[in-house]
Amino acid sequence: MILTVTLNAALDLTYGVDGLRVGASTRVAEVAERAGGKGVNVSRVLRALGVDTTVTGLAGGATGRALRRELAAAGLPDAMAEVAAESRRTVAVVDRRADRTTMLLEPGPQVTPAEWARFTGSFAPLAAGADAVVLSGSLPPGVPADGYAQLLRIARRRGLPVLLDAEGEPLLAALPERPTLIKPNADELAATTGESDPPAAIARLRAAGAGSVIASLGAEGLLAVTPEGSWRARPPARITGNPTGAGDAAVAALAAGLVAGLPWPALLARAVALSAAAVAAPLAGSYDAGLYRRLCEQVAVLPFDRIPD
Ligand SMILES: Nc1ncnc2c1ncn2[C@@H]1O[C@H](COP(=O)(O)OP(=O)(O)OP(=O)(O)O)[C@@H](O)[C@H]1O
Ligand SMILES: [Mg+2]
Repeated sequence: MILTVTLNAALDLTYGVDGLRVGASTRVAEVAERAGGKGVNVSRVLRALGVDTTVTGLAGGATGRALRRELAAAGLPDAMAEVAAESRRTVAVVDRRADRTTMLLEPGPQVTPAEWARFTGSFAPLAAGADAVVLSGSLPPGVPADGYAQLLRIARRRGLPVLLDAEGEPLLAALPERPTLIKPNADELAATTGESDPPAAIARLRAAGAGSVIASLGAEGLLAVTPEGSWRARPPARITGNPTGAGDAAVAALAAGLVAGLPWPALLARAVALSAAAVAAPLAGSYDAGLYRRLCEQVAVLPFDRIPD
C-alpha cells in the first residue's frame, strides 16, 4: 500500500462560465466539486493504475466532511485525521469562452499544536502498514515548518521509502531527514535553491540530504539525478491540455515504480508517459489511458552526462 499525505487537503470547486466578468456578476453554467490537494491527486492516479493506496492528512468542519464523502465516492480509502477548523476550498473559474482558468486558493485550517501532535501519533501506525509514503503539497497554518521533517523521521526509522513533493522552507527543513526522492518542478527548484541552473540546483539539494532528485521541466520532461546515475527523459511531443496535476501523476508513477523495484530508465519512461497523459485529461488526478500506453513506447530516456545541455 502507498500512503499519501495531504496536510492541506481541499474541496476543489470548479465553476464553468462563458466569459468571466471581473468587477461584475457572472452566471455559473456548470459546477463540479471534488476532494483535492496534491496527495489526493497522487492517490487518484495510483488507484487508476490499480495500485493499493490510502489517503491521510488533515480535514476539518463541514468542508472536511464534504471532501471525505467525495473520497469515499471515488473509492479512495480515507485515513484522514480530524481538526476543529474548516478545511480549505479552492475555486477554479474556467472561462470556457476564453479558454482561461482563474484560481482562488484559501490558506487552509489553523491547526493547533495538540491536533498536530495527535496526527503525528496516528501517522506512525499508518506508515507501519505502508510500502512507501508520499508527502505532497503545502502546509496549513499552524503545522510547523519542519512538519515534513517530523513525518520523514517516523517513516525513515521504519526503513520506508519516502517521496516528497514540496518547496521552500518545508522542503529545505526535510532534507536532513534524507527523503528517498524529491520532485521539484523548474520554478520550485530555482526558488528553493536560488540557483537557476537545474543541474547545479539539483546538486545542492542532494548535498543537503535528498537521495534522488527528479526535476520536472514541464513539456521538456524529467531530469533525474540518482545514486545509480543521471538521466534525461523527454516526451515525444508537447501535449496540449490541462497541466495542473501533471506533477502529481509523475509522483504517482515514481512511487509505484520504486515499490515495484523498476530500474530507473523504465521508471522514468513511465513517469514521463503518465504525466504527459495526465495533461491530456481535463481533471487533476486523471489521465488518458490509451495515450499513456502509446507514450510508454515513445519516451526517450538518455544518460544525462552524454547530452550537451
Ligand atoms: N505540455 C506537456 N506535454 C507533455 N508532457 C508534459 C507537459 N506538461 C507537463 N508534462 C509532463 O508532466 C511532468 C510534470 O509537469 P510539471 O513540471 O509542469 O509539474 P508540476 O509543475 O509539478 O505540476 P503540478 O504541481 O501542477 O502537478 C513533466 O515532467 C512532463 O513529463
Ligand atoms: Mg508540482
